[in-house]
Amino acid sequence: MGKTVKPTATPEYASLVTAGSDATPGKRVYVKSYGCQMNVYDATRMLDVAEASGYSEASTPEDASVIILNTCHIREKASEKVYSELGKLRLLKEEKRRAGEAVQIVVAGCVAQAEGGEIIRRQSAVDLVVGPQNYHRLGDLLARADRTALVDTDFPEEDKFDHLPAPPKERIAARGVTAFVTVQEGCDKFCAFCVVPYTRGAEVSRSTQGILDEVRRSVDAGVREVTLIGQNVNAYRDRGTGLSLARLVEEIARLDGVSRIRYTTSHPRDMDDDLIAAHRDIDKLMPYLHLPVQAGSDRILAAMNRKHTARDYLDLVQRLRKSRPDLALSSDFIVGFPGESDADFEATLALIDAVGFAGSFSFKYSARPGTPAAQLSEQVSEPVKQDRLARLQQRLEEQRRSFNTSMVGAVVDVLFEKPGRYPGQIIGKSPYLQAVVVEAPEDLIGKVRPVRLLSNATNSMGGEILPVPEPSGGRA
Ligand code: 5AD
Ligand code: SF4
Repeated sequence: MGKTVKPTATPEYASLVTAGSDATPGKRVYVKSYGCQMNVYDATRMLDVAEASGYSEASTPEDASVIILNTCHIREKASEKVYSELGKLRLLKEEKRRAGEAVQIVVAGCVAQAEGGEIIRRQSAVDLVVGPQNYHRLGDLLARADRTALVDTDFPEEDKFDHLPAPPKERIAARGVTAFVTVQEGCDKFCAFCVVPYTRGAEVSRSTQGILDEVRRSVDAGVREVTLIGQNVNAYRDRGTGLSLARLVEEIARLDGVSRIRYTTSHPRDMDDDLIAAHRDIDKLMPYLHLPVQAGSDRILAAMNRKHTARDYLDLVQRLRKSRPDLALSSDFIVGFPGESDADFEATLALIDAVGFAGSFSFKYSARPGTPAAQLSEQVSEPVKQDRLARLQQRLEEQRRSFNTSMVGAVVDVLFEKPGRYPGQIIGKSPYLQAVVVEAPEDLIGKVRPVRLLSNATNSMGGEILPVPEPSGGRA
């Protein structure tokens, strides 16, 4: 979370897009995306919609006739970034107008959903505000926004997934060998700090059929790893058949060509026995689970409305590890939730020590308008939050490093994803989401190979590919 992710086009990608589409000259779209994987996914689908309406992808905002900011509302900083970015885009728009070129500025994503028309009142250069459930109408909205600024943030009757165009195969291929697939959106949990239930609305699952079709299309285009994403993904339930996430994973694992499956983000309360067993029974389901706990003090967990205790979480981790002994875990943490005392914070550190996380994301509590926690009186001061965050992150970083160090010498399967930083290198991921660099030819990209891990640097591990055991036919 928190980092800016731009679905960048490699030069090859850009030319593929232009060559393979019916793009209208001068109609060029640029998307800048902030926040979580859901936004990364939505950004790619917005490009699909725009392409179907005659746009090609621009590689810079300067080169675009439509600039979309796909925004994140989760913390104050993320939200405020939008307005400073819009200030810069206004200048660009004016400059282009003087040069006789029209530019449309679009705000999409969760700030769009939360603030709607207020965005246009604060920044009149914005032409269109479109919510996360409405971007399938982007082509039509852009045409209409040519005349007057528009806001479309209603939760529509129709399901956007029924209206999103399937991208051409070469476009999927250009995005690489791993893909996100949204299976569920929205959240019914109402954690006291979180805006998601308000911005993304109630939990809605996509149809199993639609998901399987998308995975099949992805695999046809060379994708080998799919990450099923949703704000509360383990609450997935097909609306017609009631099929659960565990069964969905099983269905996807049956598809030839799928080498790996992951899913994120899960709530501890929705981790049912079936899903726990799936980690034991389904080889293609990777032994790495992002399972946010947020805090380790029961008092704070209750105030957060998490609906579980620290003991519940520890018991769950134990059951998961019994099912899949090598399971690695990651979590999100919030420090400085209103009323958090030193003792509460120590309880979070104790939970971290008890679990041992392979990776994590941690944040200072940020009061969000409209959420219950923002009304609480005992807000924690900024220096205290800062100090706790530094201590927490140090502990988590030690755990991440010691997890990686403990694996030096081990042999793990690596799915190679792209060329490495230096010539002759390629880079991929271990089952535990570690970045692994080896010296090997690029034709191994998209393949899984056994790798002996030899070293542990700050952000990646080094290794060497081992000969594929005979018979070798089973590997992708
Ligand atoms: N302040 C700080 N962090 C937050 N998160 C969600 N809402 C807030 C907030 N108001 C964090 C949680 C969540 C992750 C996506 O973002 O840790 O799991
Ligand atoms: Fe927000 Fe809690 Fe729902 Fe996660 S589970 S999206 S933190 S309300």
